[in-house]
Amino acid sequence: MKHYICRQMIEPKRYLVTAALPYANGPIHIGHLAGCYLPADVYVRYLRSQQKEVVFICGSDEHGMAITMRARQEGKTPHQIIDHYHQIMKDSLHQFGISFDNYSRTSLEIHHQTARDFFLKLYHDSRFEEKTNAQYYDEKTSQFLADRYIKGTCPKCGHDEAYGDQCEKCGSSLHPQDLIQPISVLSGETPGLKETTNWYFPLNQYQTALEEFLKEKESYWKPNVYGQCMSWLKEGLQPRAMTRDLNWGVKVPLPHAQDKVLYVWFDAPIGYISATKELLPHTWETYWKNQDTALIHFIGKDNIVFHCIIFPAMLMAHGGFILPHHVPANEFLNLEGKKISTSKNWAVWLHEYLLDFPDKQDELRFVLLSIAPETSDSEFTWKDFQSRVNNELVAILGNFIHRVATLIHKLYDGVLPIDVSSCLDPDVKEAVEKWNDQYHLHTSNHRLRQGLSAIMELARFGNKYLTQNEPWKKVKTHPEDVKVHLMNGYYLSAHIAKLMAPYMPESSEKIFHMLHLSSSQISVDTISAPKGHPLNEVQLLFQKIEDADMQFQKEKLTSGRVHTPSDAQQKQIEESPLLSFEDFSKADLRVGTVLSAVPVPKTDKLLELLVDIGHEKRTIVSGIAAHYTPDNIIGKQVLVITNLAPRKIRGIESKGMLLMAENSEKLSILSPENRVNPGAKVS
Ligand code: 2FM
Ligand code: ZN
Repeated sequence: MKHYICRQMIEPKRYLVTAALPYANGPIHIGHLAGCYLPADVYVRYLRSQQKEVVFICGSDEHGMAITMRARQEGKTPHQIIDHYHQIMKDSLHQFGISFDNYSRTSLEIHHQTARDFFLKLYHDSRFEEKTNAQYYDEKTSQFLADRYIKGTCPKCGHDEAYGDQCEKCGSSLHPQDLIQPISVLSGETPGLKETTNWYFPLNQYQTALEEFLKEKESYWKPNVYGQCMSWLKEGLQPRAMTRDLNWGVKVPLPHAQDKVLYVWFDAPIGYISATKELLPHTWETYWKNQDTALIHFIGKDNIVFHCIIFPAMLMAHGGFILPHHVPANEFLNLEGKKISTSKNWAVWLHEYLLDFPDKQDELRFVLLSIAPETSDSEFTWKDFQSRVNNELVAILGNFIHRVATLIHKLYDGVLPIDVSSCLDPDVKEAVEKWNDQYHLHTSNHRLRQGLSAIMELARFGNKYLTQNEPWKKVKTHPEDVKVHLMNGYYLSAHIAKLMAPYMPESSEKIFHMLHLSSSQISVDTISAPKGHPLNEVQLLFQKIEDADMQFQKEKLTSGRVHTPSDAQQKQIEESPLLSFEDFSKADLRVGTVLSAVPVPKTDKLLELLVDIGHEKRTIVSGIAAHYTPDNIIGKQVLVITNLAPRKIRGIESKGMLLMAENSEKLSILSPENRVNPGAKVS
């Protein structure tokens, strides 16, 4: 066990930051964003702002039970499921500014090859134990039951909905045969036992090496993460099967294992390696094999054991790879007093938020980072969202920047009347120094709530400074003082924009644009803004969130709206010379918003669209692929005939039709002039 590299890191030369690969079995919700993707993104943007060399990796996790179960529920193939959700997840994360260098997917051949090679290296080095034992088998459906297809009572806490691999109530990791009164999820029957052979990774052999690896982390890992690792080690590690009797996943590359695949938790973390390879085919090893790289995994607390124990042990067994330097895992975000649940539709979905609050990504970033579940579970409520946006972003931060910029425009025609650096107030400089230090200390140590609060403190200071000096009242009486006060306001605004960049990138950009500055022109002592420097026009940064919007969101959440297919009426629109109004009014025309679009395989003309028509989401196959690419149709509002009889097109049930205008064979989608709520009736 001498191959792995592990040493106390002083100043890493480069950073390899990963964010947990989300399962491509559903859209992304605010819990994912708050617990993993936002903290990772802020940290990466922060590192980049410090001119560090960093690569940020993620992608869709497209194997495992999460996918096959969803395919079963939706009556689709696993391939259809992953293509569909991969696109939605990728788009939402992109829209929220999560700045991955590569968002890959584990269905790619480069990943399958990398995972197979990894497995074979371990296999040839005799790192696995081959074991034949009895496993649960469902006679009714003639298949071995994956852990997630068995439910029963948890032997540790008595929860009666525990899965074969884990109890989601107490977090215990389980083996299917630990469950009391197991039931097959596929048939509802009690499963029988049948012999099968699989390859086990003897985690127990890595116990001492892991203890050594983790020992040095006590000083800088979060206590919740370190504590969970210690409790795993204390319980004693057990061998774990790394192959499964399933037909969805990376095929086991052994001749006598044709109908088996790699365990999803074996292949998923290797996905970080394959995504880096995909991005940097010639230099990926610099990131994975050099001791002066810091490998940092951002995850939620349910993934701790896989990233802190199992994956490091796999890397040790393989040899040649660095081990994780940091795993700043977060706890969970609850929603309006309950656990977020995909199956119960108790969630705020990012793609829906984007439709309901267009261009308000930074507002959600701000709120989620202010309540990030860094050391314990935290809670999102719409009321709190409204109050944080209105009372902090609008009333404090936005207000300060707006006051400074509008006064400079009003009093000096938008041109700086004196050199900013020539008139800095020592108190203002001291505040910038103080909050700058706090900001760096917290942000670099993954305390983003406090990092954000340092920015707000600086904005608060700015407001106080303006209120005390009242430049708007003294233009006539003390014109020189007014210039100085506003230049100090400009200096504070520039610093706020610079510190905001990793947290609220869009708004930071807007401020830089207004000030006509870039980040490189700003340092604590000085700022390159000489007399005569022109500002750009003032833009509104944040707007108040209205009560009605919050009411709408709460109702939407509590209505438990489930998207079921409608009973579309059989109707054929036929050419006919005259149409009575009564007949015309039978057509149910509504505004829809395109949530996703994927080309229908083996066709040139068809796109499979998912369209939000208000009360449900519809799959519509449309012959527009020659005129629109997925990228330029996603997010568009369209007019849909919703009560056309469903039609099967290339095996896909299409439930509705988009209205188009045709001009010399070029199709144009018809859209409402202004954005309206999906489902709005067209009449
Ligand atoms: O819990 C999850 O959503 C997993 N798909 C995370 C995988 S992280 C990594 F190992 F890929
Ligand atoms: Zn339990």
